Amino acid sequence: MTEPLPVPASSTGGAGTGDLAIRTERLTKQFRSGQVAVDGIDLHVPRGAVYGFLGPNGSGKTTTIRMLLGLVRPTSGHAELLGGRMPEAGLDVLPRVGALVEGPAFHPYLTGRANLARLDASDATANPRTSRRRSDEALERVGLSAAASKPYRQYSLGMKQRLGLAAALLRPRELLVLDEPTNGLDPQGTREVRHLVRELADGGSTVLVSSHLLAEIEQVCSHIGIMGRGRLLLQGDRGELTARGAARVLVQTSSDHVAAVAEVLAALGMAEVSVEGTTVTALLDDTPPEKVSAAIVHAGVDLLGLEVRRPNLEQIFVELTGEGFDVAR
Ligand SMILES: Nc1ncnc2c1ncn2[C@@H]1O[C@H](COP(=O)(O)OP(=O)(O)OP(=O)(O)O)[C@@H](O)[C@H]1O
Ligand SMILES: [Mg+2]
Repeated sequence: MTEPLPVPASSTGGAGTGDLAIRTERLTKQFRSGQVAVDGIDLHVPRGAVYGFLGPNGSGKTTTIRMLLGLVRPTSGHAELLGGRMPEAGLDVLPRVGALVEGPAFHPYLTGRANLARLDASDATANPRTSRRRSDEALERVGLSAAASKPYRQYSLGMKQRLGLAAALLRPRELLVLDEPTNGLDPQGTREVRHLVRELADGGSTVLVSSHLLAEIEQVCSHIGIMGRGRLLLQGDRGELTARGAARVLVQTSSDHVAAVAEVLAALGMAEVSVEGTTVTALLDDTPPEKVSAAIVHAGVDLLGLEVRRPNLEQIFVELTGEGFDVAR
């Protein structure tokens, strides 16, 4: 079984537990079938983070989220939300948490707007006089204003998903837990959700957003946690994680100078020097790129272009785990 990769201690910004919006300790869920869906995970979500909770289908994301929200009881370990231990602290904590989880209960014969009004009315702390405004604002934010008067049963998958998001946004929340908010959305809708997540974070909320599509959500995240077969394989600050990937330098030169460039890179002590057409590449490691260009120029060799390329998160994940991201269980 894959051991969790070591995560730098600074990966949660050096945060003490008080700075964490979500903290789990050896959180585990074994279903009655015997399957261990979540296997001893230590989730650390700093306050103010946009935490991308990623992993292939069946890797345990929804089960984890359901435990966080007190909807499923852990077999062992525990979860803290906004400093309160779940599920005991639920009454205190959950009103400060907006959640989108699979299959929210909407009434099929009521319109989108009426469904939101119903949810809003069930919130004892919400002022009924401003209910309509709250619903309309939430509908507007998720781009559902035009379809607000349609009955829920006539909604497309994407519209249903948007209404679920609107329900999570009825009130300002300290923490938003969004399970696959882009599920069923078209590319435009996906972009809108990314934008919305960014906006929520800018407004001071912590956001945990899950997805089985790494590339879809990677760019808005400040932090990343990657699940695989019930285990948290990788977690930390996104910048730090990507910096761990080995950078390569790509040098463009003229066809009769290819060998000379390769020699210069090798002389600089760079590894994995290889040639493809008129491009010479090598592992950059700690060599400053300026030093590379200076050495090439100094050798009197044509330098037609120089680029430093870092692998993206998916490549790092594959590099570190030897697993593809899209492997189903
Ligand atoms: N109620 C249940 N009883 C038994 N097994 C379950 C139950 N719910 C989930 N599982 C199993 O636990 C594993 C994790 O499922 P989970 O829904 O948490 O994955 P996920 O990462 O959310 O996947 P997806 O990307 O498809 O939403 C799966 O193998 C699933 O079959
Ligand atoms: Mg899921």
